[in-house]
Amino acid sequence: MLHIEGLRKAYGDVVALRGVDLDVAPGEIVSLLGPNGAGKTTLVSIVAGLRRTDAGIVEVDGIDARERSVEVRRRIGLAPQDLGIYPVVSVRRNLLLFGRLVGLGQRELRSRIEEVAEALGITGLLDRQGGTLSGGQKRRLHTAIALLNRPPLLLLDEATTGADVETRAQILELVRGLAADGSAVLYSTHYLQEVEDLSASVVLLDEGRVIARGGVKELIAAHADPVVELTFDGEVPPVAASGGATVEGRRLRLATTDPASTLTAVLPQLPPGSLDSVEIVRPSLEAVYLALTGRRYQEADQEAEHVSPS
Ligand SMILES: Nc1ncnc2c1ncn2[C@@H]1O[C@H](COP(=O)(O)OP(=O)(O)OP(=O)(O)O)[C@@H](O)[C@H]1O
Ligand SMILES: [Mg+2]
Repeated sequence: MLHIEGLRKAYGDVVALRGVDLDVAPGEIVSLLGPNGAGKTTLVSIVAGLRRTDAGIVEVDGIDARERSVEVRRRIGLAPQDLGIYPVVSVRRNLLLFGRLVGLGQRELRSRIEEVAEALGITGLLDRQGGTLSGGQKRRLHTAIALLNRPPLLLLDEATTGADVETRAQILELVRGLAADGSAVLYSTHYLQEVEDLSASVVLLDEGRVIARGGVKELIAAHADPVVELTFDGEVPPVAASGGATVEGRRLRLATTDPASTLTAVLPQLPPGSLDSVEIVRPSLEAVYLALTGRRYQEADQEAEHVSPS
C-alpha cells in the first residue's frame, strides 16, 4: 500500500532523510521509531503530500504521491504530530470540515462522524467548541479526523502523546481494528511498549537513515541478550562467568544468550546461604533501541578517535 524508495530530504543545510526505503503492506502495522530529529515527521509529511522530496519514490497504492497528490490524499488518513483542529467551531463541525477535505459525501460523512465519535468516546462532546476541549480530548478529535475516510493507508505521528491511559488504549484498539480490516498503518511513537502491544514491525530511523528493521522478536533476538540477576544477602561473592558481568550493590547481573546454562555454571560457585533471589530478565524493545541508537554514537566516537593524529 505504501512504497518508499531512496527518499531524500534536506531543509537547507539540515539533511533530514538520507535515502530511506520502506514498505507497508495492507493489514500491516509498521512502527516508525527513532530519537528526536531522526526524520519521522518529515517522512510522514512527505507521504501525506505536505512536503516535497528532494529525491526518491513515494507510491501509495501504486500511485505516485508527487504527481497525483489529490488521488493519494483520498487514500490517506493523517494524524499529524502537531494538533490541528479549528478552535472556534464545534467538534462536529471540525469533523465535517475535515471530512469534506478528503472528499467524503454529505450522507456518508454524517454516519462516519457518528462512528468515529463513538469509537473515540467523543460523542458527548460533538457540540462543544473545539478550543474548549482538554488536551487529551483534542487528541481524540485529532485522531478521529484521521479515521473519517476509512483510510487504506493510515499515518499516525505520535498519536498518543499527551493521551491518558484510556485514550491510549482506545487509539491502539482502533489501530489494531483498522489493520485487521486491511488498512496499512504507519505509526510513529516514542512509547516502545505500544509497539509490542500492536505486534507491529519496526523501522528504526536515526539521523535520516534506517538503522534496523524487523519484527520485535527478531530484533530482540538479534540485538539484546537476556540478563540473569542474582541478589545476595551481603556482598556479591566473586564468580567466574563467561560473558558480561556487572555488580551493582548487592546485585550481580550476567548478560547471557542462555540463562539456564549460565545459572547452572554459577550456582555451584556461590557460598552456601549467600543467595537471596534469582531473576531472569527478558530483554525488551527498549534494550534494542538503546543498544542500536547508543552504539551508533560509540562507533562515531571510536571513528573520531581513530582518525585523530596520535
Ligand atoms: N521546516 C523545517 N526547517 C528546517 N529544519 C527542519 C524542518 N522540519 C524539520 N527539520 C529538521 O529535520 C530533522 C528531522 O526532523 P523531524 O521533525 O522529521 O524529526 P522527528 O523524527 O519527527 O523528531 P521528533 O521525535 O522530535 O518528532 C531535524 O533535524 C529537524 O530539526
Ligand atoms: Mg516528529
